Amino acid sequence: VAGQVRIGLIGAGWWGTQYHIPSLLAYPKAELVGVADLDPAKREGVRRSYGIDAVFESHTDLIERARPQGVIVAVQHAYHYQVARDALEAGVAVMLEKPMTLHAAEAWELVELARRKGVVLTVGYPSNYTSLARAAREAITGGEIGDIELSTSLYASMVLEFLRGNPEAYRTSFNFPVTAPSASTYSDPKVAGGGQGHLQVTHPAGILLWITGLRVAEVFAFMEKKGLAVDLLDSISVRFEGNSLGTLASTGSISPDRPSGNEIRVYGSAGSVHLDLAQGVLAIHRAGLPSRSVEPEPGENLYPAHVTSRNLVDLLAGDEETCAPGELGARVVELLDAAYRSAESGTAIKVRPLSD
Ligand SMILES: NC(=O)c1ccc[n+]([C@@H]2O[C@H](COP(=O)([O-])OP(=O)(O)OC[C@H]3O[C@@H](n4cnc5c(N)ncnc54)[C@H](O)[C@@H]3O)[C@@H](O)[C@H]2O)c1
Repeated sequence: VAGQVRIGLIGAGWWGTQYHIPSLLAYPKAELVGVADLDPAKREGVRRSYGIDAVFESHTDLIERARPQGVIVAVQHAYHYQVARDALEAGVAVMLEKPMTLHAAEAWELVELARRKGVVLTVGYPSNYTSLARAAREAITGGEIGDIELSTSLYASMVLEFLRGNPEAYRTSFNFPVTAPSASTYSDPKVAGGGQGHLQVTHPAGILLWITGLRVAEVFAFMEKKGLAVDLLDSISVRFEGNSLGTLASTGSISPDRPSGNEIRVYGSAGSVHLDLAQGVLAIHRAGLPSRSVEPEPGENLYPAHVTSRNLVDLLAGDEETCAPGELGARVVELLDAAYRSAESGTAIKVRPLSD
């Protein structure tokens, strides 16, 4: 349809079918021109549940035959890099799910490729689009709390059964519309990379680095697997460029009947910011000035999972900016890649300085 942005979805698993397909179908600016999945059962599920006939066997098939301007990439972690690279090489814009890639060198290569091809590359961080994260970023990067000295993030979530390879256990909690994730998606290191780090810590890291503009210089991490093949508990210490310090702590073991946690605190030379995206609170404290708190907008969804695909459409329509550029995704991968190497080696890992 004239004026609509042509979008394809690659990966019709849990997340692609629960969020990306419905949000694109309901977005007037977008035309969903095709959905690709390697698994015939997933393709059949998309046909049956959404009446979509333009289904393709692979991402290259979809790119060649449906000619999308942009693609949403929602495949398993280990395949992010290859699929995104093929799309960017073909001159197609990409919204790549988190974690952008498993290794820093791959992430920076994608950023550079997108730049060279002149196409947009973004990553799937819904929280960055909330009014609270926007206000926190404005306050911090606008200098309201002075120079950043210390930052900390705590993230507690319900993913233990995913990491165990038993995603069906969350059927009633997540209400999977077509399929649950595959058993191996988050539990098999060959497919998932790691556990809590790549699956979850990527989110608070994506918020923290976005609202502060910080870049990682050096990382030391402890990780515990608790009998799983991948990490369940992560404790990460960071020295950032400019010599501020930070920590990120996370557990994936919260049960469905307990509250999750998603808190970030940033302390600067002139004030501090407390962002709690589980409770929906942002407080800004400045030396010698009254504290200020920011409320979410009325009825605002604090986990707007539908916005990441629509943001790609908006960017291609020339209407919006992104809150999760590829460069941010790469800075997060730098942190996590170093954290995994640190936990493995028991040493601090220096992150290579950026070439630019
Ligand atoms: N932003 C978020 O909050 C959020 C939440 C959940 C999942 N995710 C991300 O979404 C991605 C998918 O997760 P999921 O739970 O839906 O996994 P899943 O296992 O349910 O689905 C992945 C699908 O990708 C398909 N696939 C793999 N390679 C392909 C290729 N080359 N071409 C076409 N299809 C291919 C697989 O067959 C599978 O059906 C992951 O990166 C995950 O981290 C993001």
